[in-house]
Amino acid sequence: MSETTARKFTLLPMLGHTKGKRSAVTCALKCDNACAGDVCNTSSNSYFRDIASATMSRRAALGFGAAGALAVVLGSAVTSADPASAAGLSPAAKTGFGPSRLKFTAINSIAAEVDAVTVPEGFTWQPVIRWGDPIFNGTPDFDLNNQTAAAQEKQFGYNNDYTDILEIPNSKGRSAVLFANHEYTNESIMFPATMPAADVRAVGAAAHGLTVVELERKNTTKPWTYVKGAPLNRRFLSNTVYELTGPAAGSALVRTVADPSGRSIKGTLGNCSGGTTPWGTILSGEENFNGYFVSPGTSAADKRYGLKSSSTARKWELDDPRFDTRNAGYENEANRFGWIVEVDPFDPTSTPRKHSAMGRFKHEGANVIVAESGHVVAYMGDDERFDYLYKFVSAGKYREGDRAHNMTLLSAGNLYVAKFTGNSPVEEITGTGAVPADGGFDGSGEWLPLVVGGKSAVAGMSVEEVLVYTRLAADKVGPTKMDRCEDVQPSLRTGKVYVACTNNSDRGKAGKEGATEVNPRNENRDGHIVEITETGDQTSTQFTWNLLMVCGDPAQGDVTYFSGFPVDQVSPISCPDNLAFDSVGNLWISTDGAPSGIGRADGLFKVTLDGAGRGKVEQFLAVPRDAETCGPIIHDDERTVFVSVQHPGEDGTFDAPNSYFPDYVPAGTTPAPGQARAPRPSVVQVFRTDA
Ligand code: FEO
Ligand code: CA
Ligand code: CA
Ligand code: CA
Repeated sequence: MSETTARKFTLLPMLGHTKGKRSAVTCALKCDNACAGDVCNTSSNSYFRDIASATMSRRAALGFGAAGALAVVLGSAVTSADPASAAGLSPAAKTGFGPSRLKFTAINSIAAEVDAVTVPEGFTWQPVIRWGDPIFNGTPDFDLNNQTAAAQEKQFGYNNDYTDILEIPNSKGRSAVLFANHEYTNESIMFPATMPAADVRAVGAAAHGLTVVELERKNTTKPWTYVKGAPLNRRFLSNTVYELTGPAAGSALVRTVADPSGRSIKGTLGNCSGGTTPWGTILSGEENFNGYFVSPGTSAADKRYGLKSSSTARKWELDDPRFDTRNAGYENEANRFGWIVEVDPFDPTSTPRKHSAMGRFKHEGANVIVAESGHVVAYMGDDERFDYLYKFVSAGKYREGDRAHNMTLLSAGNLYVAKFTGNSPVEEITGTGAVPADGGFDGSGEWLPLVVGGKSAVAGMSVEEVLVYTRLAADKVGPTKMDRCEDVQPSLRTGKVYVACTNNSDRGKAGKEGATEVNPRNENRDGHIVEITETGDQTSTQFTWNLLMVCGDPAQGDVTYFSGFPVDQVSPISCPDNLAFDSVGNLWISTDGAPSGIGRADGLFKVTLDGAGRGKVEQFLAVPRDAETCGPIIHDDERTVFVSVQHPGEDGTFDAPNSYFPDYVPAGTTPAPGQARAPRPSVVQVFRTDA
């Protein structure tokens, strides 16, 4: 069998996989068939239905005054010395929600097979940057049929997920940096079948990592274009060195023969969502890193993190011994992934960092808020069925305008995992999503300590062990098993925290935990959003919670809940994934998996959080066939919205594409230079035609 033939035969280990939310191809390539295999969390840890604590009334007493105080802290937290200041990360001190600044009429939901970006009337769209677009001076244009690793290393990578755009200070709104990460590759639709397997591996590897690229526009009413060869442009590749910070840095658990220091890690893997800090750096979550390693697969840690002895989908282990942790000297290589990464997009010579203090799991992302006390708090989801929600509280305090100091804050602090308690009787949580008699899915909760004051809070585990094997540590303290926490985003306006639980097809199945008040549906196909209110400031270990929504399509007979908003007046929504806020406090949700849930294309949705419209869901856009919507950025003050379109045409082949997004080169036409008649993951901007 030739090497090429072998690649085609073994590329998609789909294991007869037919269940779950995504296409079988996405499951195989993105998360190593996590939903097809056994649930990693086999701990006996389960939930308890305690009576709601008195914290409920305390929350009510805090009321809006606390929110106002919070906004003042945030509003004053960024100065003109901070690159973040021009990005509008910390809006001026205000209380309450303002009138919406982005008027649109919701689109109807779109059939899953439609290969188009659908936007509201009066809006149009265009890509900002596409897979393969050249980043540096001298980098060749994308050429679908002549791809090389050398070119891809200098071009925009594949499957962009988390995205943010930060304006460059003193540019009068005409220059910005765009950050995007590249979660994974789909070799079957990227490369012709005749391409040698070694080249496939090399180009595929170069399409991973991160990208920073400068944008420009003529004025603030015009769309952005990226600038080839700009000074801040950067690709982060498999040989880019990341510094491991925090208590586990240098630990024996992270040393390898190539890095006896245990502090210097090459590359980043499985980058999913992320967040942008108040000091203008980017955080990115290393999620399904396990799919890149061959491991013994026998230890408790290997099993808990889904590390297996089978060969990997991309077979990088053939080129680099570190991707097979059975090799002498590389036993710990997989421990060097699964972290939160911090990148300074304003300094192209800076060393990116991985923060061990924030724990190691399948990180979806991390979103930071400055507490009234000045400590910074990061909320983080572990996106796997029945895994947990985490919170990090920095040891140090935010210092206004002191960026160098602020960039140390994620290297030391306390780490917690969430336990939710419902306040309704067990028998009222039926597993259908029907609202209990008290009118809401709600209750109290606590942040259970894993590391506090630099010391382990988990019996029998050192700090290093807690941080490297965070899932195993959390199992010991009794947190709540969640329905795949994706983005976890605090509102900078209210301090309330929103948790996107995307779905969990296994809840309530034989041998698995059934519905709980915070995860109230068995075989949860469409997901839900949890709203958390900390008791006191953001560093509190107590909170109250309620569900903002239980997703689905009421018109299809799904049992749904939208905080009491009439279900016949909402856009159907399924599989919430990434979250963002607009400048007046509305929540925006992008989805991943709606085609397998409500049978419609994935999209971006605005949700009103306050007043009579609370719970109203309005669909803003839909993405092309097979794609998920990621990385929403809402610049409503400029009437512009950005999304990452990830894995368009995922279920097609190179020779028979399912999508022609975004170039849409007509059949029989020779693509213009830099264009391709193939799906290309891209960052897209949507703006008014009268802009
Ligand atoms: Fe990469 Fe949790 O989605
Ligand atoms: Ca209740
Ligand atoms: Ca995601
Ligand atoms: Ca987000």
